[in-house]
Amino acid sequence: MTNSQTVHLIYGATAAGKSTYAKALATEKNAVRFAIDDWMHSLYGQDKPEAMSMEWVMSRVARCQSRIWTTCLQILATGTDVVLELGLLREQVRDRMQAMVEEAGHQASFSFVDADLQVRKQRVLHRNMEKGDTYSFNVTPAMFDAMERYFERPSQAELGRSLVIAEDIKHG
Ligand SMILES: Nc1ncnc2c1ncn2[C@@H]1O[C@H](COP(=O)(O)OP(=O)(O)OP(=O)(O)O)[C@@H](O)[C@H]1O
Ligand SMILES: [Mg+2]
Repeated sequence: MTNSQTVHLIYGATAAGKSTYAKALATEKNAVRFAIDDWMHSLYGQDKPEAMSMEWVMSRVARCQSRIWTTCLQILATGTDVVLELGLLREQVRDRMQAMVEEAGHQASFSFVDADLQVRKQRVLHRNMEKGDTYSFNVTPAMFDAMERYFERPSQAELGRSLVIAEDIKHG
């Protein structure tokens, strides 16, 4: 057995539907899912400073990512795929992630989950109220805007390596 597995890497802007998609994918692939928001909330949620900076958040995201990856290597070695929602907000970060996966002898499979800005704003409001399946914490308009500035949409070249998921499922 070669133990070369697939690392499913999910990225996209706020409330595009990443967690919803990642959960379904993990079930379909019989994979283990890691979501950075869950880790951040449970490890650092109680320590949040009054004025939260991107620097404060990103340094903790990096620590979580590092621990998650160490655990992923063990899971992959057992012959199980992983589904990762690690933020991966910049193309360069996604490039580095791909290199890390390949260096470890596995394949990276990117999914870019997308939805229109207005749809995503509506989804955040709805999720904040409903606190459904994929709710980790309240996303304020300020947080939404900060993430919007920080997130780098994939270039045309990057779209070539990404599956694009952009279906708006109407409920009810
Ligand atoms: N394809 C879809 N069609 C309609 N509604 C959706 C779809 N995908 C997700 N939703 C709903 O939109 C909201 C946001 O979805 P989800 O939490 O999966 O997004 P996310 O990208 O993980 O958000 P975040 O960036 O905050 O982690 C949820 O309430 C979810 O039920
Ligand atoms: Mg999510």
